[in-house]
Amino acid sequence: MNVLILGSGGREHALAWKIRKSSYLNNLYIAPGNAGTAMLGTNVHFSVTDFASMKEFSLSHDIDMIVVGPEDPLVQGVYDFFHEDEDICHIAVIGPSREGAQLEGSKDFAKKFMHRHNIPTARYKSVTLDNITEGNAFLDTLTAPYVLKADGLAAGKGVLIIDDLNYAKQMLWEMLNGKFGNAGNKVVIEEFLSGIECSVFVLSDGTSFKILPVAKDYKRIGEGDTGLNTGGMGAVSPVPFANNEYMEKVRTSIVEPTVEGLKKENIDYKGFIFIGLINVDGDPKVIEYNVRMGDPESEVVIPLIKSDLLDLFIGVTTETLEQRKLEIDDRHAATVMMVSGGYPEDYERGKVIAGLNTIIDSMVFHAGTALLNDQVITAGGRVLSVTSFGNNMEEALQTSYKNIQKINFEKSYYRKDIGFDLQSDF
Ligand code: AMP
Ligand code: GLY
Repeated sequence: MNVLILGSGGREHALAWKIRKSSYLNNLYIAPGNAGTAMLGTNVHFSVTDFASMKEFSLSHDIDMIVVGPEDPLVQGVYDFFHEDEDICHIAVIGPSREGAQLEGSKDFAKKFMHRHNIPTARYKSVTLDNITEGNAFLDTLTAPYVLKADGLAAGKGVLIIDDLNYAKQMLWEMLNGKFGNAGNKVVIEEFLSGIECSVFVLSDGTSFKILPVAKDYKRIGEGDTGLNTGGMGAVSPVPFANNEYMEKVRTSIVEPTVEGLKKENIDYKGFIFIGLINVDGDPKVIEYNVRMGDPESEVVIPLIKSDLLDLFIGVTTETLEQRKLEIDDRHAATVMMVSGGYPEDYERGKVIAGLNTIIDSMVFHAGTALLNDQVITAGGRVLSVTSFGNNMEEALQTSYKNIQKINFEKSYYRKDIGFDLQSDF
C-alpha cells in the first residue's frame, strides 16, 4: 500500500514510525512532515488543508490510504472531499466525515450529541448574543469556578476557567463579541467538574471499535502543572486509576453510546475518537471529544500497540475491525517533550540539535524540527518527544530523562516532573 500521512508533529512522526513497520506498506509520504518523518518516508510540501494538491499528489503517486493527523482537515471535510469525488473515492481516509468532525469542531454539537445519547458530561448551556441574559442567569445557578468554552476551534485556547462570577459574565460578553474570533460566536457555559483527567483513544469502523491504551498528558509549561497551557509537555501510558473497573464504566457509559449514537444518526465515522475524561469520584465524565489522536499522547499510545497498524486501518475502511486483533505491549511508556526556551510565548527557531544519533534505548519523535544542509534544526515550540518503555512508569521516565541529557540545543527546556501526580506501584 502507498500511504500519505497528513501533519508535521510528534504524533505524525509516531504514526510514520509505526506504519513504516507494517507488512502492507510500500511507499510512505508525509505532508508536510518534519526532519524525523523524512527518515521514514518522503516529505511532500503541501499543507494539510490544501485538498486540491492532495488530490493531484494522491493520483500521481497511487495513494491507497490517507491517515489524517490533525483536526483541521477533518473539520474542513477532507473525508467528504475524497469520498464524493469519483476520481479519488477509492482512496481510504482514516478520519471522520465533516459531520462527525463536529464532535471536535463545535462544542455545542458535542454537548447536544452527548445529551441525546445520555453520555455523562458536565451540565451546560449554549449561548449566543441573542440569549446572553439566559447565559448570565445560568452562570448565577453555578458555583465557582466557571467554565466558558468558545464553540469553534480556537487552537486549544478557547476554554476559560474563571473564579469570579462578574468576571465570568464580562468574559462571556467579550467572547460573544469576538475575543476568539468567530469561534466564540457561540459559547458553551459548563458546570466545573473536579477530578483527575485522562485521555481515552478509540479506533472505530463505524460499527465496532477497539479501545487503545489510556494516556495522561501534561499540558502546563511549569512543574506541578503551573503556568501557561501548551500543546503538551509529556505523557504516560497506561494510567493507574483507569483500571479494569473504571474502563468498564468508560466502555458501557461512554464509548458504546458514542459509537452507537454516531451510527444511529448516520454520521460516517471511520477513524480515531479521542475522549477527554475526568474522573469524578470514580465515575468518568466527558470533558471533550477530539476526532484524531492526541499529541503527545500518540507518542506513548502508538508505541504500545503491537499489532500491525495498517491491518487495523484496513479493518476500519472495510468495516471488518471486529475481526482484527489489537495486541498491546504490557510495558509502560512515557514521553517527555523538549521545547524551545520561551515557549509557549515567543521563542527562537533554527537552533542546531546535537546528540540525536547517540540515543539507543529511547525513541526520539520529532515535532518542530527541520533539515538545513543535513543538520537537524529546531523549527517550532515543541521540538522533540523522547519516549521510553519500562516495567513501570518510573523506569520509563528515568530512561527518557537520561537520554534527554544527551540531546542538546540552545535554550532547550523540559519538565522534570512528568507523571508526578500518579501513584507508581501498580
Ligand atoms: P477542552 O478544550 O474542552 O479540553 O478544555 C480544556 C481543559 O479545560 C480541559 O483539559 C480541562 O482541564 C478543563 N476543563 C474543560 N471543561 C471543564 C469542566 N467542565 N470542568 C473542569 N475542567 C474543565
Ligand atoms: N494532548 C491533547 C491534544 O492533543 O489535544
